[in-house]
Formats: sequence, C-alpha cells, structure tokens
Amino acid sequence: MGPVAVRGALLGCLCLALGCLCAADRLLSGTHEWKKLILVQHWPETVCEEVQNDCRDPPHYWTIHGLWPDKTEECNRSWHFNLEEIKDLLPEMKTYWPDIIHPSPNRSQFWKHEWDKHGTCAAQVEALDSQRKYFGKSLALYQKLDLSSVLLKLGITPSINYYQVGDFEDALTRVYGVVPKLQCLPPRQGEAVQTIGQIELCLTKQDQQLRNCTEPGARPSPRREAWLAGVAAEDQGLRVCEDGPVFYPPPKKIKH
Ligand SMILES: *[C@@H]1O[C@H](CO)[C@@H](O)[C@H](O)[C@H]1NC(C)=O
Ligand SMILES: *[C@@H]1O[C@H](CO)[C@@H](O)[C@H](O)[C@H]1NC(C)=O
Ligand SMILES: *[C@@H]1O[C@H](CO)[C@@H](O)[C@H](O)[C@H]1NC(C)=O
Repeated sequence: MGPVAVRGALLGCLCLALGCLCAADRLLSGTHEWKKLILVQHWPETVCEEVQNDCRDPPHYWTIHGLWPDKTEECNRSWHFNLEEIKDLLPEMKTYWPDIIHPSPNRSQFWKHEWDKHGTCAAQVEALDSQRKYFGKSLALYQKLDLSSVLLKLGITPSINYYQVGDFEDALTRVYGVVPKLQCLPPRQGEAVQTIGQIELCLTKQDQQLRNCTEPGARPSPRREAWLAGVAAEDQGLRVCEDGPVFYPPPKKIKH
C-alpha cells in the first residue's frame, strides 16, 4: 500500500469512527448538546385541519407552538412544570400561545408539554434557565419578530388563491435577513396542494439573535435531513414545504 492509499484508509476509519460518534452523540440521552433555537409558530386553521378537529373559532393570527433547541429533547425529567411560576404571563400566554387543539379552560397541558420536551433543554443557557425566563423570552421573541404583522404588511394574507412557497420564503428572508424554514401539511386525497402550517425562525444559542435555519456549508445527507425534519416537525403531519403552490387557508366562516 502506497502512502496515498494508507492515508485514504486512515481517513476512512476516522470518518467511520466520527460517523459513529456523531450518531451515538445524537442518540444518547445523556448528551443534550444543541446549537440553535427555533421559534416555531403555527397557523391555527392548519393545525385544526391537521388533526381534523373542528376547533371552535381558532385565532386569526400566527400563534406560538414552541421555542425549541434543535437536536435534543426532554433534558431534565425531574424539573416539573409549575404554572405558578408564570402566573404573571398568563394573559399573554392565553392569547399568543393557546392550545389550538384542546381549547379548554385549563390550557396548561400544552405549556407543560413544551416545557418538559423543549424548555428543560433550552434552560442550558442563562437567558432561559427558569420557567419564567423560558416562557417570558419566547413571548418576547414572538412579539419582537411579529410574524403576523410582517406577513400582512407584505400582502401575504390567507386566501383561496394559492401562493408559491417561494413567495413566503423570499419575503421573509428579505424582511428578517435570514433563511426561515417552512412546514406544510401535504395534500390530502382529493386535494391539489400542500397547506402551510408552520414557520420556523432560527436563533443563536447564546444571545437569541436571528440566524439562518440552514447550516452554513455542507448540505446535509438525505437521511440526516429527514431525521432533522422529523425532529423539527414534531408531529408527523407536517413536512418541509416543497417548492410550488401552497394554500394559506383563510378562517372558516363561523356557523351559528
Ligand atoms: C434538573 O432539575 C432539577 C430541578 O430544577 C435540578 O435540581 C437539577 O439540578 C437539574 N438537573 C440537571 C442535570 O440540570
Ligand atoms: C383546572 O386547573 C385547576 C388548577 O390546576 C384544577 O384545580 C381544576 O380542577 C382544573 N379544572 C379542570 C376542568 O380540569
Ligand atoms: C444565510 O443564508 C444566506 C442565503 O443562503 C447566505 O447568503 C448567508 O451568507 C447566510 N448567512 C450566514 C450567516 O450563514
């Protein structure tokens, strides 16, 4: 074996080993490393459609789904959700972070779920290291980024006429200066197009400033992409939107 072949073999081993390490790193529940935060907002009308739930009078603005660290979940099962800690935030929570699917008087199950699954991981950084800070910061980011108003101002409003996915992508990239990630409900039987469901805006870990949702440099391999998409979508119904037409559903007329 010449030096080049040896080096090739060594590199191969190294890559294999690193690949294993990387895979193990992601799967081990003990390591909860993450690199970015994702402010996930969803369109209530699509959420209702996704679960085929006849939600009564869902909000007509984008609401918070969650603030998620990428690549990890459920970092501390002994850190229990406590509604008392966010009492002063409740009016805002109910307005901007409602449980669309279960609009009961007691809405805290959704918040508990988000805390258990994502908040306990976000708490690694000082700005988010308590429940008060985690929910407070999420609300502050939601208000600062003001997605609903941004879309309105861009003239992108719910419509029976289809948009192009690029209309959303280009407009949001222009306004925010970073690449967002859009998630859609794939067309159901008998439907022609996908329906926009979620918009993700990504933030840096340390100072929660906007950043691209895409990683700089290398394109992820399809498998890794699929895995990341699965993690980010959280629920099985949504997928990364495909280029092409997209439905942004207007609120259904309320029948009384
Ligand atoms: C998990 O949360 C509990 C309760 O807040 C805390 O005492 C403990 O230090 C946390 N564990 C880790 C590993 O952060
Ligand atoms: C609502 O929550 C309060 C306090 O957590 C509880 O005492 C009450 O039973 C709940 N009501 C319903 C309808 O679940
Ligand atoms: C964000 O993405 C855009 C478009 O792909 C690229 O031009 C820009 O350099 C990226 N910014 C950073 C900080 O990676």
